[in-house]
Amino acid sequence: MFDTMTLTKAGGALCGTLLVFLLGNWAAETLYSMEGGHGDHAEQAYVIDTGADDDQGEEVVEEGPSFEEVLAEADVAKGAKVFSKCKACHKIEEGANATGPSLYGVVGRTVGSIDGFGYSGSLVAVADVWSPDHLNDFLTNPKGFAPGTKMSFAGLKKITDRANLVAYLDSLDD
Ligand code: HEC
Repeated sequence: MFDTMTLTKAGGALCGTLLVFLLGNWAAETLYSMEGGHGDHAEQAYVIDTGADDDQGEEVVEEGPSFEEVLAEADVAKGAKVFSKCKACHKIEEGANATGPSLYGVVGRTVGSIDGFGYSGSLVAVADVWSPDHLNDFLTNPKGFAPGTKMSFAGLKKITDRANLVAYLDSLDD
């Protein structure tokens, strides 16, 4: 049962809520812009100004050493342990294919080059030779690197695992 008074009260409550919301919003914005008003802003303006390099805007903050640097200090024995994650599908003996192709001598090998293995074609579409860098990218996220690949593997998240594994694979055909 509505009467004018109820409506007025409801309306009043709504306006009050709105007012509080607007005030809160205004206060937050004021605080925020005051905070940003220091050095950071000047710095960012500088970054935009220098726009000479195309990738400048994206501000890629690579933490830690590059893959080459980690690979230079890689541990082959630890890599052999990481390889247990690949064993279900790959053998390291020359010419021994399983669910995946033999990984003997894979570092520096032409992509998709094992005769008699039924590749998906997704790997040759994105890489020519399995350089350490390509292996690093592929093993980080196989399906991200080569969409449509038949290799059902989630990826190795740790750069040290990937470097140790690549060093191990590289040691096999020495
Ligand atoms: C579930 C099975 C499976 C697992 C686990 C797996 N692979 Fe594979 N791998 C495959 C298949 C299948 C292919 C062929 C992919 C294609 O043709 O798209 C492949 C292809 C590859 C290739 C390309 C070889 C070439 O001749 O071009 C490399 C390198 C590779 N795998 C490395 C690894 C490593 C290292 C691991 C462990 C970290 C691993 N794979 C784990 C199934 C697997």
